Amino acid sequence: MKPLPRLGIFGGGQLGRMLAMAALPLEVACSFYEAQPDAPAAVLGPTFGDASHSDAALAAFLASADVFTYEFENIDVALVERIAATKPVYPSVASLRQAQHRLQEKSLFAELAIPTPAWRAVYALTDLEAAACDLGLPLVVKTTTLGYDGKGQFVVRTHADIARCWQTLGAQTSLIAESFVAFRRELSIIAVRAQDGQTVFYPLSENQHQQGVLALSVVPAPALDDDLRLQAEDYIRRLLERLQHVGALTLELFETEHGLLANEMAPRVHNSGHWSIEGADCSQFENHVRAVLGLPLGSTACPRPTAMLNILGQHPDREQVLAIPGAHLHLYGKSARPGRKLGHITVSADTRADLQAAITRLRACLPT
Ligand SMILES: Nc1ncnc2c1ncn2[C@@H]1O[C@H](COP(=O)(O)OP(=O)(O)O)[C@@H](O)[C@H]1O
Ligand SMILES: [Mg+2]
Repeated sequence: MKPLPRLGIFGGGQLGRMLAMAALPLEVACSFYEAQPDAPAAVLGPTFGDASHSDAALAAFLASADVFTYEFENIDVALVERIAATKPVYPSVASLRQAQHRLQEKSLFAELAIPTPAWRAVYALTDLEAAACDLGLPLVVKTTTLGYDGKGQFVVRTHADIARCWQTLGAQTSLIAESFVAFRRELSIIAVRAQDGQTVFYPLSENQHQQGVLALSVVPAPALDDDLRLQAEDYIRRLLERLQHVGALTLELFETEHGLLANEMAPRVHNSGHWSIEGADCSQFENHVRAVLGLPLGSTACPRPTAMLNILGQHPDREQVLAIPGAHLHLYGKSARPGRKLGHITVSADTRADLQAAITRLRACLPT
């Protein structure tokens, strides 16, 4: 049996950790570009990288693997480009670039006729005033780069908020102002595309957020019209094909009375796909690893309804969680801090009613 390529992962957080856990049974060795020696992924392979992004650290990371990927899109494209000049990087730098910048991302959606909330680019206070006039209030104003988990956002509800929003976010080179969508619910779809173009779709997830951070995912999304599922698959397929994407891609969606609107995409495995470790035949992490290494993809089927609850800020009592039938506890090796993602819990059940009962019991285990 010929040995598989070694996998280098930009970032050593929980996504890197779960990618490496999926790679381990395939005998794929992982290394990480990560400055924190105690990062969640560090227990699974060597880490390289320092806060100053020195040439030596990047060279050592480059030498440590044969194929590269990333767990997080907020990384310096120049670093990834330097690796891509000598060794394969999947998803490509093109996918990374598009997903890093909200204006480029929304322009790509428009080009591919994927509906989104109405939006305007904002470079000056006058642009923000014009956006409020054109689109009406409320507006969700976001930094175009580096935002995640609701960070770098401001909801403008009144005209008086416009100046406050500008004071808070105006130092950025660019912003995006979006119409506030009164959505029915939030959904996401994750697809994985292999090097030969084979594409698989996970069932859509229904996602609930708390203060901009994902709290609960339920899969398959309950009472989902089949037309909407097909629509979501069609939208994400357009993106995968345009970008010639290899690996996992996530599309976050708002379900509205007029159909689906695309919110944002992530060129990677996603928090709303963590349920797939136990809930799907082949997890998002394993399928991403398979795609990046040129292996055939696995089934995305979800045999039983499954839920994923994030553990935010404080650790729950382990024994209390594990006493709930079917519950799986995933901790990321992080210390507690308000709002921080410390782990997640998944549970599957035979019926929706049993799943709801399990969610209620698990919620009671989570410190508030
Ligand atoms: N245009 C919008 N209308 C209503 N809610 C929004 C809008 N944009 C974002 N949100 C809410 O804020 C959350 C985080 O925004 P998102 O654009 O996904 O940024 P992040 O990169 O932080 O995840 C979304 O999941 C949604 O709940
Ligand atoms: Mg989001």
